[in-house]
Amino acid sequence: MVDLLLGLQWGDEGKGKIVDVLTKEYDIIARFQGGPNAGHTLEFDGIKHVLHTIPSGIFHKNAINVVGNGVVIDPVIFKKELDNLEKFNIDFVAKLLISRKAHLILPTHRLLDAASEASKGKAKIGSTLKGIGPTYMDKTGRNGMRVGDLEFDDWKTKYRALADKHEAMIDFYDVDIQYNLEELEAEFCEGVETLKKLTFIDSEEFIFKAQAEGKKILAEGAQGSLLDIDFGTYPYVTSSNTTAAGACTGLGVAPNKIEKVLGIFKAYTTRVGSGPFPTELFDEDGATMGRVGNEFGATTGRPRRCGWLDLVALKYAVQINGVTELMMMKADVLSGFKTIKVCTAYEYKGEHIQHLPYNIESEYVTPIYTEMKGWAKDLTKLTKAEELPPALNDYISFLEEQLQVPIKIVSVGPDRVQTIHR
Ligand code: IMP
Repeated sequence: MVDLLLGLQWGDEGKGKIVDVLTKEYDIIARFQGGPNAGHTLEFDGIKHVLHTIPSGIFHKNAINVVGNGVVIDPVIFKKELDNLEKFNIDFVAKLLISRKAHLILPTHRLLDAASEASKGKAKIGSTLKGIGPTYMDKTGRNGMRVGDLEFDDWKTKYRALADKHEAMIDFYDVDIQYNLEELEAEFCEGVETLKKLTFIDSEEFIFKAQAEGKKILAEGAQGSLLDIDFGTYPYVTSSNTTAAGACTGLGVAPNKIEKVLGIFKAYTTRVGSGPFPTELFDEDGATMGRVGNEFGATTGRPRRCGWLDLVALKYAVQINGVTELMMMKADVLSGFKTIKVCTAYEYKGEHIQHLPYNIESEYVTPIYTEMKGWAKDLTKLTKAEELPPALNDYISFLEEQLQVPIKIVSVGPDRVQTIHR
């Protein structure tokens, strides 16, 4: 049995925290796409942890964590992540298994990302510059290097050919990128040596066997549905399928083996990087969300753009993913707003529509809001659904009615314990 956990907005919905909260129910946590562009934040016992590539079940004693074939791995960042976890005495060889089919991010992929963004000027994607786009380009272009290649003695020859090609491509961009490849390569080789100490597996076979043995598997997504390469706000997206189908291709899970699809969303909306964002606020309300919600990118530290909940976009994500249960994050951040607004339609070419048109740039769509009463109560110490203020219950009921999916968890703070089950 496989359940999926996905972000339904532009990422940063709080997937890391929810995986961590749910891990005790699962035997295996498996990441299926993305790479170190992700930053999954977990908080417990007063300590905050940020994971980039390692699945969020790593802190739980009994969970096995799998990095699936759909993920792209930067050995340099991976090593740093492992180093940061050293003090926890985790048995990584037994608990963290890596797919041989996962692709590797080379130092030159990172440089290519920077060159590509620099060449785009104002039209830049706002990439995290972790080399994600160029690595997936090499994967689909059938040029990439995979984790399994590291088990062969000639991996450095393969590496050299690809890196040389990348250098020529960087020159082609004709932008000013300063780098010392020798240093970057030394760091890369060190990362590779660390990676090689871990257990490489044929993860699709591992996941298949685990299913046959009745193990409970949670597939953990990264980024969010609106950053999906096909269904997101292209070209301002990431380079993988962040939606439910990505779990099938990124782990080798058959579609009919998926049971629950858990969709995570924030009680409002945020976005980092460039691209359209119809409900974005440029006023005091947006600034308050950013300040109270501590809205800074976990990977890049960039301030996140903030705005009201966009129900048109959320409905789209619920449909594309077949979401069966919803989890609302950061409800506490909205405490104190007199009025809560929800975008329930777009004005598009003079009409009110309730679906996502081809282009949601502000010159095409204007959000139409429904206003609801806010609540003043501090939610951060609450532990039971009965304690939620009536205005928040009204907000939740309205969303459930609109989306036709139950909201099972309301998160009221970053810590594991600040989680209300309904
Ligand atoms: P890339 O995936 O690093 O190339 O970035 C492409 C776009 O996706 C940029 O707008 C990034 O800010 C955004 N992005 C990538 N990863 C994340 C994430 O984990 N959370 C939120 N936004 C992300």
